[in-house]
Order: sequence, then structure tokens, then C-alpha cells
Amino acid sequence: MGFDVFSSAVGSLESDGWPPGRLSTTRLILREPEAGDRSRLIDWASAEVNQYTGGARPRDELEAAMPVEPRRRPGLFVVERDGAMLGFVTIDRRDRDRLGHVLPGGNEAELGYMFLPEAWGHGVATEAAAGALRWFDYAHGGELVVVSAQLANTASIRVADKLGFVETVRFEDYGALQWLGVRRPPNP
Ligand SMILES: CC(C)(COP(=O)(O)OP(=O)(O)OC[C@H]1O[C@@H](n2cnc3c(N)ncnc32)[C@H](O)[C@@H]1OP(=O)(O)O)[C@@H](O)C(=O)NCCC(=O)NCCS
Repeated sequence: MGFDVFSSAVGSLESDGWPPGRLSTTRLILREPEAGDRSRLIDWASAEVNQYTGGARPRDELEAAMPVEPRRRPGLFVVERDGAMLGFVTIDRRDRDRLGHVLPGGNEAELGYMFLPEAWGHGVATEAAAGALRWFDYAHGGELVVVSAQLANTASIRVADKLGFVETVRFEDYGALQWLGVRRPPNP
């Protein structure tokens, strides 16, 4: 699926405002990936985390493919609390070739979020994504953002809902019904 922290090939956000340094929210720090994150990043291979994002990935393949220094790109935030890495939030460009767009030319800014199961259920994804969106509104003011999820991924859609995303379209892709929400830019 289009949700990939391991690749630099996904449509990276162009941004004059990058890197923004370490961003803080009430409980969390958002920062760029570091070498010490490597083993935690590989924990993302699990089937539990990837239930709605393409299934588990072979752990040994990731071990072999991931550089010692995890790749950095504009819009990729690692999220940590009390020094422990919990997950990440991404803002990338939604590839024109994919299904599901709200702009005629596609290429919308697209939010993604993914956390290890130990962090689930405590408002972490919502708080972290809100922090990333605050940075985005500052650096890319006036631009809308989309988020997509499998319709069956109720927790993900609930996070989008809490962040102010509104359903725009449903479509079939990757053999499942997909949900696309849009967040209009806040008033200037
Ligand atoms: C989706 C995900 C990011 C949510 O993270 P989180 O930190 O638990 O999210 P939050 O706690 O901020 O909010 C989750 C909301 O969904 C609700 N929720 C969780 N599971 C649910 C379920 N099965 N059915 C209905 N609602 C559910 C929670 O109650 C909460 O809503 P509330 O605040 O109104 O009670 C996390 O489960 C995850 O990383 N999943 C694997 C990766 C993934 O699917 N990412 C999204 C790809 S589109």
C-alpha cells in the first residue's frame, strides 16, 4: 500500500520548512529518524500493525534492506514519549496514479500514522498527527490534506474524524473498500 516509511521513493513532500527541529506536543516529541530507531522500525514488520496496510513483511528482508541510518525525508516524523519511540506520522504526496483524489491533478498532501500496539488506545496517534498538522499548516498554509484508510480500519478512521477529516469518497483498491477523508485548511 502507499504507506511506506522505509522507502524514499514515495512522493516526498517538497518543503522549505524542513527539518523543523524537534516538535513537542503535551506528551510527545516529533523528530526525524535516527540510527537508534532502526530496530524499532523493523518491529513494524508485524502482522498486527500491518493488518490494514498490506500485511506483515518478512523481517529478514527489512533487516537486509534498511540502511544503518534510517532514511529521512520531509514530512516523516518519528514519535517518542519519555525517550521511547512509539511510532511515526507521515505527510507525503499522494501519487497521481493511485485511486482516490480530491484535486483534479491529484498529488495532495496525505497524512499517515502508524504506532506499535503498546501505544494504541491512549490518544497518541491523534495527538501526534495534530502536532504534525500544526507544522504543516505553518509551513504549507492554505493547503488541504487527505487521509486514506481501509473502511474496516475503524480506529484509523476515528483518528481522522477527531482531527477534522471529512469523508469525501469511497473506492475499491487492494481488494478492499477504502475511505478517503479531506481536511480543508484552517481559516487564515
Ligand atoms: C490506527 C492507529 C494509528 C490508532 O492509534 P491510537 O493511538 O490507538 O489512536 P487514538 O487513541 O488517538 O484514537 C483511536 C480512536 O479509535 C477508537 N477505536 C480504536 N479501535 C476501535 C475499533 N475497533 N472500533 C471503533 N473504534 C475504535 C478509539 O476508541 C479512539 O477513539 P476515541 O478517542 O473516540 O475513544 C493504531 O491503531 C495503529 O497504528 N494501527 C496500525 C497501523 C494503521 O492501521 N495505521 C493507519 C493506516 S491508514
